[in-house]
Amino acid sequence: MAQIFTASADTRLRAFLLAAAILIFLLILFVGGYASSSYGTLIGWVQDQPVPFSHQHHVGGLGIDCRYCHTSVETSAYAGLPATHICMSCHSQIWTGAPMLAAVRHSLAANVPLRWNRVSRLPDYVYFNHSIHITRGVPCVTCHGRVDQMPLMSRARPFQMQWCLNCHRDPAPNLRPPDQVTRMDWSDWDAHPAQHKDFGALVVKAYGIEPAKLTQCNICHR
Ligand code: HEC
Ligand code: HEC
Ligand code: HEC
Ligand code: HEC
Ligand code: HEC
Repeated sequence: MAQIFTASADTRLRAFLLAAAILIFLLILFVGGYASSSYGTLIGWVQDQPVPFSHQHHVGGLGIDCRYCHTSVETSAYAGLPATHICMSCHSQIWTGAPMLAAVRHSLAANVPLRWNRVSRLPDYVYFNHSIHITRGVPCVTCHGRVDQMPLMSRARPFQMQWCLNCHRDPAPNLRPPDQVTRMDWSDWDAHPAQHKDFGALVVKAYGIEPAKLTQCNICHR
C-alpha cells in the first residue's frame, strides 16, 4: 500500500509548528510594544492645522489664560475650541495683514469656523467631563502637559484607560487649589511636599471623592 505521508512530512510539520509559535510570540511582542509606543499613544505627534497656532507664543509668551479661548472648560464637559472672533479681538489690530493669518480672516469674512484637527481625543465609547476635573482642582498641565512650551500642539499623555485609572485610584496627590488649575508651572508647589501633603486629602474629604466609585466601569462607559 502507498504511503500517505512521506518520510519528510513529519519534519515539515515540526518546522511549520515552530514557525507558527515564533510568529505568535513576535505578534504578542508587537501588539504590546505598539500599545505603549508613540504610534499607539500618539504622544508628541502634531497635526496639520489651518493656521500654525502657537500656544508657546500665546500662553507662554503673552500669558493669555486658557479660559480666554477654551471658554467652557469650567462649566461643561467640553473645553471647546475658540471661535474666530476670539482671535480677532487681537488680530484685527495686530498682524492684520500677515499671510499666516489668511485662514483666520477668511473664516471671519465667510462666517465659517476654522476646522482644527484634534490632537487629544477619546473614543466615542468613553465619557469624559472637563468641568468636574477642573472644579476639583486637577490642573490642565497634569493631562495636557506643558502647553505653554508647545509651538505646535501635541499630545503629552497616553490617554489610555490605565492612565485614567491610575489617578482615579488615588487622586489626592494630584489635586491643587481649583482657582489655579490653568497654571502651568508647579515647581514651587512640588518643592514643598510637606506643606502641601494634606491639601489633596482635604479636598478629597470636602467633596466626598470615593476612589472605589471612580474606578467603576460605568463612570467612564455609560
Ligand atoms: C490677546 C491677544 C491675542 C489673541 C486673542 C490671539 N493672538 Fe495670535 N498673536 C498675538 C500677538 C501679540 C502675536 C505676536 C506674537 C509674537 O510674535 O511674539 C500673535 C501671533 C500670532 C501668529 C503668528 C505666529 C506666532 O505664533 O507668532 C498666529 C498664526 C496667531 N497669532 C494666530 C492666532 C489665532 C489662530 C488666534 C485665535 C485662536 C489668536 N492668534 C489669538 C496676540 C493674540
Ligand atoms: C489664544 C487662544 C488660546 C489660548 C489662550 C489657549 N489655547 Fe489651547 N487651543 C487654541 C486653539 C486655536 C487650538 C486648536 C489648534 C491647536 O491644536 O493648536 C487649541 C488646542 C488646544 C488643545 C488640543 C485640543 C485637541 O484635542 O486638539 C489643548 C489640549 C489645549 N489647547 C490646551 C490649552 C491649555 C491647557 C491652555 C492654557 C494653558 C490653552 N490651551 C490656552 C487656542 C488657545
Ligand atoms: C483629567 C484630565 C484632563 C484635565 C485636567 C484637562 N483635560 Fe482637556 N482633555 C482631556 C481629555 C481626555 C480630552 C479629550 C476629550 C474627548 O475626546 O472626549 C481633552 C480635550 C481637551 C480639548 C479639546 C476640546 C474638547 O473640549 O474636547 C481642549 C481644548 C482641552 N482639553 C483643554 C483643557 C484645558 C484648558 C484644561 C484646564 C483648564 C484641561 N483641558 C484640563 C483631559 C483633561
Ligand atoms: C490626575 C487625576 C485624574 C485623571 C488623570 C483623570 N481623572 Fe477623572 N476624575 C478625577 C477626579 C479628582 C474626579 C472627581 C471625583 C469626584 O468629585 O467625585 C474625576 C471624575 C471623573 C468623572 C466623573 C465622575 C462622576 O461622578 O460623574 C469621569 C467621567 C472621569 N473622571 C473620567 C475620566 C477619564 C475618562 C479619564 C482619562 C481620560 C480621567 N477621568 C482621568 C481625577 C482624574
Ligand atoms: C476612569 C475611566 C475609566 C474607567 C473607570 C474604566 N474605563 Fe475602560 N476605558 C477608558 C478609556 C479612556 C478607554 C480608551 C482607551 C484607549 O483609547 O486606548 C477605555 C477602553 C476600554 C475598553 C476597550 C479596550 C481597551 O482596553 O482599549 C474596554 C473593553 C474597557 N475600557 C472596559 C472597561 C471595564 C470592564 C471597566 C471596569 C472594570 C472599565 N473599562 C473602567 C476609561 C475607563
